[in-house]
Amino acid sequence: MPRIAVIGLGQAATHFAIGLERLKAGEIQPYGVPLANMDLGVGFDELEIVGFLEVDNRKIGKTVSEVARKFYGFKKVPGRLSGVRVYRGLGSAWVRDLFPVSEEEWPSQLEEVYRTLKLLRPDIIFDVSTTQYSRPYKDMAKLEKDVYAGKAAPSQVYAYLALRLAEEEGPLALVNFNPTPVANSQAILSAAAERGMLVFGDDGATGATPLTADILEHLRERNRKVRGVAQFNIGGNTDFLSLLEESRNRAKEYTKSSIVMDVLGYDVPHYIRPTGFLESLGDKKFVAMHIEYESFNGAVDEIIVNMRVNDSPALAGLMVDLARVSWLLLSNGFSGTVRQVNSFYMKRPAPPGTRSQSRVIAYQNLVHMLESIRKPVSRGIPEVGQHP
Ligand SMILES: NC(=O)c1ccc[n+]([C@@H]2O[C@H](COP(=O)([O-])OP(=O)(O)OC[C@H]3O[C@@H](n4cnc5c(N)ncnc54)[C@H](O)[C@@H]3O)[C@@H](O)[C@H]2O)c1
Repeated sequence: MPRIAVIGLGQAATHFAIGLERLKAGEIQPYGVPLANMDLGVGFDELEIVGFLEVDNRKIGKTVSEVARKFYGFKKVPGRLSGVRVYRGLGSAWVRDLFPVSEEEWPSQLEEVYRTLKLLRPDIIFDVSTTQYSRPYKDMAKLEKDVYAGKAAPSQVYAYLALRLAEEEGPLALVNFNPTPVANSQAILSAAAERGMLVFGDDGATGATPLTADILEHLRERNRKVRGVAQFNIGGNTDFLSLLEESRNRAKEYTKSSIVMDVLGYDVPHYIRPTGFLESLGDKKFVAMHIEYESFNGAVDEIIVNMRVNDSPALAGLMVDLARVSWLLLSNGFSGTVRQVNSFYMKRPAPPGTRSQSRVIAYQNLVHMLESIRKPVSRGIPEVGQHP
């Protein structure tokens, strides 16, 4: 049974925990889980969430059930979640501007979190913590130095601890859903490959960005010349609140903007980024998109899209898929990363240098790759690392 530990018990993680338990109980249909109907060798009912790591003092020490009810206002929470705990995470100084955090010393935080991870024995670690701006690491010695000096972003430090865990306890998968360059850090990928560990990322592709990529693909295939792309996102959840801080917003813009050049093959003026926080919108963000293009005989057309999107459930559906996909690939001896997985699920697909693709193409490539894999009989240490 795949054991899943989650970093960050925010809105996306809460929807993941509740949605998964409801799915297991047959209370909901798996809508929003792209590969729900595909046999990946492991069922929803086999996925087990074993614990969460948090830095918000108001959540640490509570159960998921308590956080879901008191923090996010869920009225009905599946019973199993009153047995799943929230443990102390690391990197609180990085989010001091957002909520009350503990002021523990850095080295002791590191060791405590490592002990927690060891106790939880995860096969899969999901990182859905708050966005942090950081640069990718090419060199392991530099990452190691910054980890101990408290200079690496928390998601990169968690990745470092996951590498240590994989070395001591055996292969595991780490999936980074936030924009911090984890899977796009070559130092982390190379170390993962050496340990039979998998790393996926970065930044889950959920709302308007995959749709924009697909519309751009449509225009490219029809040889229409795009003149400009504007895409606004306004939301009222804490993810949007955190993005008011300029460096966090820059991290997000970086992962979103790459689609224009990558999909079209040429650059055009574009503005694609979260633009604001409006509390009354809650988790259902407002998206507006405008794409102007030139068609035959100089005609100029425009596409205008308006959407309201439930932000966190969109990511939670992808998390369900990635738990099963990670397990399938781990069981079949994959290590490092797998481009086809990142290209479909992530805004900034690893390994570094990978071009963004439209999701319609990425979906076909992913399904083709997964179908070619023998279904796992049992989990084991890989004999030979495989890469597609
Ligand atoms: N559709 C989506 O919601 C979506 C899509 C793509 C990416 N993401 C990314 O996923 C992440 C989570 O999104 P969310 O909407 O759940 O945000 P959220 O603000 O509701 O939750 C983030 C949680 O992480 C916790 N946290 C912050 N730093 C931490 C640390 N160092 N260790 C442990 N926990 C920490 C916070 O206390 C908070 O509970 C964000 O980085 C966001 O950019 C979300």
